[in-house]
Amino acid sequence: MNKEITIIGGAGHVGLAFALICTSKNIKVHIHDTNTQSIKLIKKGIMPHKEKNGPKFLKIAVKNNLLSFSSKIDELKLNKINVVCLGTPIDEFLNPQYNILTDIIKLLTKVLNKDNHLIIRSTVFPGTTRYLHQILKNHKKNINMSFFPERFVQGLALEEFNKFPHIIGSINKKSEKECRKFLNIFSKEIITMKPEEAEITKLFLNSYRYVQFSIANQFYKIADSANLDYKLINYAMKHKYNRGNIPSPGFTAGPCLFKDTMQLSAFSNNNFSLGMEAMSTNEGLVNYIVSKLLKKYNLSKKIVGILGMSFKAESDDIRNSLSYKLKKVLSLHSKKVLTTDPYVKNDKNIQSLEYVKNRSDIMIIATPHKIYKKIRTKKIIYNIWVDF
Ligand SMILES: NC(=O)c1ccc[n+]([C@@H]2O[C@H](COP(=O)([O-])OP(=O)(O)OC[C@H]3O[C@@H](n4cnc5c(N)ncnc54)[C@H](O)[C@@H]3O)[C@@H](O)[C@H]2O)c1
Repeated sequence: MNKEITIIGGAGHVGLAFALICTSKNIKVHIHDTNTQSIKLIKKGIMPHKEKNGPKFLKIAVKNNLLSFSSKIDELKLNKINVVCLGTPIDEFLNPQYNILTDIIKLLTKVLNKDNHLIIRSTVFPGTTRYLHQILKNHKKNINMSFFPERFVQGLALEEFNKFPHIIGSINKKSEKECRKFLNIFSKEIITMKPEEAEITKLFLNSYRYVQFSIANQFYKIADSANLDYKLINYAMKHKYNRGNIPSPGFTAGPCLFKDTMQLSAFSNNNFSLGMEAMSTNEGLVNYIVSKLLKKYNLSKKIVGILGMSFKAESDDIRNSLSYKLKKVLSLHSKKVLTTDPYVKNDKNIQSLEYVKNRSDIMIIATPHKIYKKIRTKKIIYNIWVDF
């Protein structure tokens, strides 16, 4: 039984969720994260972001003294198991930014020893785990290493963690045995494969979802352009017919699906044409909506309210949210744009729902937070989400 593990990036969405899954099994966790603000909150038992059951799990972890922290590399405490959960964004050329992981690996070369096992939990370009292992080997640190993708819906990690088998791709049999032994604490069902296979599995899963959402968005645009009622069509496709189980049209955004589809495109030497089509359909939905409103209204005389700024319903995460693209495009055409969101805390321009409702001429439901179902108004509400 591992008495303590280390999580690098442990104050982030994936890192903290995994930390709390571990503390719920009575495993101590050393959180290393450069975000001192988030660490301050976690120490007080306050979640820095929304996660279902997070406050409950965190309270117990803090009460039982199961967490320790560092924010500077010279304070980092390594353990046998060390999990890396850093962000892996893409750059302006839609290619993965390697430097975040390579920088931390280079720092770690100074402190890692042969007993440490490095588990990469960030979503990475296929080949990354082996590449990082080679950097360490070049520094004479031939340590155990595995890739262990996070496959859970953001905000529901604590609930979903035990529902699915875990996937690992270890660098060699010794690493696989050790990683499996660690994960057996949580689950007996573990799928093992090569690191590259595990890495691409995660990219395939996210790209698949991204493409699925794009089909719904494309169907919506086709039907709507022909003045057909897509909500009714969607109902007819799905009702008591599970082969028609198409997601709702709507803004498809966030820190993962777009980015991972682009990572897969880069990996395929830009031959993932379906992924690129999905990107232009999903991103293009904003312009479709604005063009539609421009045809119908003189927007230069209208105040437009955007309801929902997080990238998805019931979330406080605004990373890569298309609500902000909508705001930008609308600002070019309308008298004024107002924004509201019940969960987002880190945007000083956000107003209360009442304020936006009272002042706007037109409102757009950009994020389908449940609370918007209760709105009763005679004003124009533009909503493409079905079941809403
Ligand atoms: N958010 C999700 O639901 C989700 C789901 C599956 C996979 N992923 C993947 O997991 C990875 C992490 O995503 P996330 O959403 O948790 O990102 P995040 O930004 O919420 O978390 C990353 C954390 O790393 C910290 N950090 C950055 N540089 C650091 C450094 N040099 N040393 C220590 N800490 C550092 C940040 O302060 C932050 O707290 C990404 O690769 C992402 O694609 C995310």
